[in-house]
Amino acid sequence: MPTAGIDIGSLTAEVVIMDKERVLSYVIRPTGSNSKKAAELAMEEALHKAALRISDLNKVVATGYGRISIDFADQRITEITCHARGAYYWDPAVRTVIDIGGQDSKVIRLAEYGRVIDFAMNDKCSAGTGRFLEVMAQALEVELDQLALISNRALNAVSISSMCTVFAESEVVSLIAQGLPREEIARGLHLSIADRTAGLVNRVGLEEKVMMTGGVSLNSAVVAALNEKLKIRIIVPSVPQIAGALGAALLAQEDS
Ligand SMILES: Nc1ncnc2c1ncn2[C@@H]1O[C@H](COP(=O)(O)OP(=O)(O)OP(=O)(O)O)[C@@H](O)[C@H]1O
Ligand SMILES: [Mg+2]
Repeated sequence: MPTAGIDIGSLTAEVVIMDKERVLSYVIRPTGSNSKKAAELAMEEALHKAALRISDLNKVVATGYGRISIDFADQRITEITCHARGAYYWDPAVRTVIDIGGQDSKVIRLAEYGRVIDFAMNDKCSAGTGRFLEVMAQALEVELDQLALISNRALNAVSISSMCTVFAESEVVSLIAQGLPREEIARGLHLSIADRTAGLVNRVGLEEKVMMTGGVSLNSAVVAALNEKLKIRIIVPSVPQIAGALGAALLAQEDS
């Protein structure tokens, strides 16, 4: 019987519909200011893509910071468990998952069979997250998906001393005013995210294989900086943002 997983994150809402181990459809849309509405629209669209009705679903599992507001969910499960399950589905040999979203970054350590043994999260601050990169892209006047591209062209990196998004934004504005190349500033920003993330990885202990999930894994400069820093080769799935919703749909399958 089909099940759905729904992940309401701070920036994006995802729905994945599965039948046994097979993905029938998935949707990614902005959460916006009304997470309940975003959830309903994402679910409607995913059902439409899979040619199903809500009554065809055996179980709906919600995750993400907005999971409480999903009243059509049968169960709510933490993002840690769901991302771990999603990553395990993509590659059962994964032992470390790095999820960087809009406002959270988390590192999860897995044992065999995708079981969570430990995790570490950033404190309540957007430093080192997707939101940080969005603010910096704006300050550098480049599109978010161009940030990695310009950073990859840099021969050097400008060191960014502020970790806090607000202070780092002023620092970037002042570095631009001093005439420092945007490429080098972008590279410095990516290195600072990698440093912060590596700190979280070291808190739980690094074990390969390592998979990155969440929207920030679409930024190849962050992945490259982390690979360099940790001397590893991170796996990035083709649609990394849906890991949480995928895990939720799989957990619903196991339980239904
Ligand atoms: N094409 C892209 N290139 C680079 N970065 C991207 C791209 N698309 C999304 N991102 C990054 O992904 C982030 C959003 O990630 P994601 O969708 O996983 O967040 P979320 O799950 O809503 O947040 P959270 O889990 O923290 O609540 C954005 O802030 C942005 O930095
Ligand atoms: Mg998320």
